[in-house]
Amino acid sequence: MTTRRKFLQLSALTSALGVLLPSSAKASTKSNSPIVVSTWEHGLPANAAAWNVLSSGGLAIDAVEAGVRIPEADPEVRTVGYGGYPDSEGNVTLDACIMDENMNCGSVAYLQGIKHPISVARRVMDKTPHVMLVGEGAKAFALQQGFIEENLLTAEAKTDWKNWLKTRKVQQINIENHDTIGMLALDKKGNLSGACTTSGAAYKLPGRVGDSPIIGSGLYVDNEVGAATATGMGELMMKTVGCHLVVELMRQGASPEEACKGAVERIALKLGDYKVFQVGFLALNKQGEYGAHCIQPGFNYAVHDGNGAQLIDGKSLLKGA
Ligand code: GLY
Repeated sequence: MTTRRKFLQLSALTSALGVLLPSSAKASTKSNSPIVVSTWEHGLPANAAAWNVLSSGGLAIDAVEAGVRIPEADPEVRTVGYGGYPDSEGNVTLDACIMDENMNCGSVAYLQGIKHPISVARRVMDKTPHVMLVGEGAKAFALQQGFIEENLLTAEAKTDWKNWLKTRKVQQINIENHDTIGMLALDKKGNLSGACTTSGAAYKLPGRVGDSPIIGSGLYVDNEVGAATATGMGELMMKTVGCHLVVELMRQGASPEEACKGAVERIALKLGDYKVFQVGFLALNKQGEYGAHCIQPGFNYAVHDGNGAQLIDGKSLLKGA
């Protein structure tokens, strides 16, 4: 049978039944039990904050905002918010986006001097007719909304940057260079939301923006189907609109893990240099099932549901040295 015929049959079946096909992904305890998942080990404390919201009946959108604010404020997390690696000129520039169950979304990019870009993105979503504000405009909006301007370059990040200036070696996001937090949550009402926030690639060219604030690339939520977020070298997600692809694969019947694997395979098929980069996708569907896939070994993700917290290794396309 041709792939197209198989696809059409699958689509007809799923739409006739009005449900997704059975999935091999890991599952939460029961449908509509709250759950939150997020990228990397820094997702553990972030999930705990999100779980406080979810377990008391709060909304997924409030949970993801509260959750990712934890690494944004933590100077030990060197790839998100305060304490993040600066660009090549020593400026910390932040990108973030947020999306709810009604396709509402907000985003900021190249934002400087504001510790919580995710909350500015939320204000863009809630208070403006726009989706995305960037640079000085985003900062002016944040200040007008009452956010405080702060120096985000910590002494440690400044020292690392000055050391980097001695060689100016180009940094690429790979397995040694963990990054973005992407978070997805399902609340007690069965609604999905997501958030994604990062300081981006270390020592990037001034003005560079990655996938994390781009709806469809670093985050996508479709409340009928599921949600996806991404971490790693943003340019690869931007070239493939990776998170939108993951959600569309779930719509066609793929489990979250299968959908993430499909997006990683699309990158491998289309982008010749993928082997030197890390990319990780994480997905959560409407049933509370979750899964991930990445290019290189080493990507992990945090899960918090009624059974407690765990950290899980994502399966990878490449098997490592
Ligand atoms: N994934 C984060 C970035 O590329 O900026």
